[in-house]
Amino acid sequence: MKNCILLFLMSGMLLMSCGQGSNTKTTTTTTSDNVTTSIPVNNGKQLFMDNCARCHGLKQDKLGPALDGVLARWNNDSVKVAAFIQNSQQVITGGQNQYATALYHKWSDAPMPAFTNLKDGEIKAIFSYIQAGIE
Ligand code: HEC
Repeated sequence: MKNCILLFLMSGMLLMSCGQGSNTKTTTTTTSDNVTTSIPVNNGKQLFMDNCARCHGLKQDKLGPALDGVLARWNNDSVKVAAFIQNSQQVITGGQNQYATALYHKWSDAPMPAFTNLKDGEIKAIFSYIQAGIE
């Protein structure tokens, strides 16, 4: 009888582990995202896909301009572009950057959301991705 209970318990555990098995797939994806997020060098594409791709393509305009060659449009001033990405409205309302203000009007005053959560290293990784130009 003891063995029976044990078997019963074990098959229950087996079933449970099966269930977990199918969940593991999603968990793995999340984990690998977390892993890439903590290594900001090669995760530019992932960060771009997660935060920017709904509005920007590299080669095609979407809700915002295509970002191919964007650093050159800002005279390679990556510090300024990073500040814009972190809080574009602050740059625009600050009125110091005519290019940014003109671009904002060109895009029908559509405000780009602020990305204050993105760290400098993460923005650098996004720049590397944009400059690599491989979609
Ligand atoms: C909700 C849409 C939206 C999202 C999401 C978004 N942007 Fe933008 N972005 C815009 C718009 C619209 C503009 C044009 C300027 C403006 O309207 O403020 C812009 C402009 C820019 C520019 C300047 C482009 C140029 O030609 O000089 C850069 C750089 C930029 N975005 C980078 C990013 C990055 C990097 C991300 C992700 C972290 C991002 N954007 C996410 C809408 C968005």
